[in-house]
Amino acid sequence: MKVTVVGAGAVGASCAEYIAIKDFASEVVLVDIKEGFAEGKAMDLMQCATLNGFDTKITGVTNDYSKTAGSDIAVITSGIPRKPGMTREELIGINAGIVKTVATSLIKHSPNVILIVVSNPMDTMTYLAHKATGLPKNRIIGMGGALDSARFKYRLSEALNCPASDVEGMVIGGHSDTGMLPLTRLAVRNGVPVSEFLSDDVLAEVAEATKVGGATLTKLLGTSAWYAPGAAVSSLVQSIACDQKKMFPCSVMLDGEYGLSDICIGAPAILGKDGIEKIVEIELNDAEKAKLAESADGVRKTNDLLEGATA
Ligand code: LAC
Repeated sequence: MKVTVVGAGAVGASCAEYIAIKDFASEVVLVDIKEGFAEGKAMDLMQCATLNGFDTKITGVTNDYSKTAGSDIAVITSGIPRKPGMTREELIGINAGIVKTVATSLIKHSPNVILIVVSNPMDTMTYLAHKATGLPKNRIIGMGGALDSARFKYRLSEALNCPASDVEGMVIGGHSDTGMLPLTRLAVRNGVPVSEFLSDDVLAEVAEATKVGGATLTKLLGTSAWYAPGAAVSSLVQSIACDQKKMFPCSVMLDGEYGLSDICIGAPAILGKDGIEKIVEIELNDAEKAKLAESADGVRKTNDLLEGATA
């Protein structure tokens, strides 16, 4: 199993690190445009092999896509990250051109690759990857919901004063501060609805903190987060690489599901060896349906900016 990670910045490197630590891939290739940067990160990571006990071989290359040939899965993290006060949408001008070039370069050398898009604004970058490559819709996945759901579970565990492993929950909708839809109604602690433990007010606060989870970290760190994004990507990669058929909310190209078409937005998906093996349609109540429709409007507005951005 060969995995390429494009962008050896904090998210890309942490993704490569988690993939290696989980030890399911034979090879990870890190690619960056900055001379020597991916090579350095790869060497540093390889020097953890004996310490962390993994056999995955990590190599780094400067912009040489021939070294990514035959990749089964490729993760696109390239582009500029958010600075404090910026929205993910503001990155579109620079990141659209980068994502388009990276996606087409990857396909050229790995025609059967499954792409995972992380670059922001992620739902729109996933949509762009579809339009730029024409790959079947099961082979392009946007990473957002897995991260947002992990942040949701963290916030719920704080409110419940319990370990996060006691909590299950999911965030669907767009990967933006306003577009996320934390499904508090369906969240549980060991099978018991969280509404048994938490008031509506507290649940609303948890949902709000989840939605601005990325912005909160950007403010604290001065750039966007990397540990949880890297860990979330590695979980998607593992589900595909090991054909686990786990369900994650991911940005997927919808074709009528949830009443939406020609849009990539967060919805639950089963990930296995063929990439997206199934998009799961859960029954939403009227309020949730309205919020999802509103979220989709926001994503479409950002998609509309693509024409100017990549022309
Ligand atoms: C975040 C970025 C990765 O949410 O979108 O931290």
